[in-house]
Amino acid sequence: MLNVALPKGRLGEKVYDLFERAGFDCPSIREPNRKLVFTNEEKGVSYFWVKPSDVAIYVERGAADIGVAGKDILLEYGPDVYELLDLKLGKCEMCVAAKKDFRDDTSRTLRVATKFVNIARAHYAQLGREIDIIKLNGSIELAPLLGLSDVIVDIVETGATLRENDLAPIERFIPLSARLIANKSSYKFKAKEIETVCGGLKEQVQ
Ligand code: PRP
Repeated sequence: MLNVALPKGRLGEKVYDLFERAGFDCPSIREPNRKLVFTNEEKGVSYFWVKPSDVAIYVERGAADIGVAGKDILLEYGPDVYELLDLKLGKCEMCVAAKKDFRDDTSRTLRVATKFVNIARAHYAQLGREIDIIKLNGSIELAPLLGLSDVIVDIVETGATLRENDLAPIERFIPLSARLIANKSSYKFKAKEIETVCGGLKEQVQ
C-alpha cells in the first residue's frame, strides 16, 4: 500500500484529479464527509488530506510515502525528501510587494512582513540589504497598509489581493508550483510502486 498525503483545499482537489486520471482513483474521496483517510485496496493507494504546509512533515517522517507540497514550503522548510516531479499545478510566484507610493530608503533597515522567513532572509542577504523580519501567519497584505512593515514577501497568484488592497508587486523572484515529493526510505523500499505512480502522473502533466 502506498500512503499519499494530499494538500487539503482547492489545490488538493486538482491534485487528486491528476492521480485519478493517472489511474489511481479512490471513489470514496468524492463523498461529501469529514473523513480524512481514503483507501482503494485494489489500486494499492491510501490518500489522506493534510494541511498543505504539513504535507512535507508527513512525508519526511515517513507517515506518508509520497505527497504533494508547494515549492514555497519546500524552499522555506527544506525538508529531507526527494522532489520527484513538477505537477505544474497551483502556479504562482514569490513576490516582494509594497504600497504603490513606496520608495526604498536604503539608509534605513527595511521592515519585511512575511510567512516565509527563510525565503525572505535569503533573498535580502543576496541583495546585501539589511532587514527586520516581522513573522505573520496570514493576511500579510495588511502589514504595509497599517504601517507594520515597509514591504511584504508573499505568494501572488492572480494579483487580486494586492490590487484590491492598493499594493503593487516590486519584484517577482521565485516561480512556484506543486511538487510530488517522496520519503527517502520509501523511495528505496517501495521503488516500484512510487515509480509507477510518478510515471502515470508524468504522462498526465506532459
Ligand atoms: C495567499 C497569499 C495571498 C493570496 C494571493 O493567501 O498569501 O494573500 O493568496 O493570491 P492572489 O494573488 O490570487 O490574490 P491565502 O489565501 O493562502 O491566505 P492567507 O492570507 O491566510 O495567507
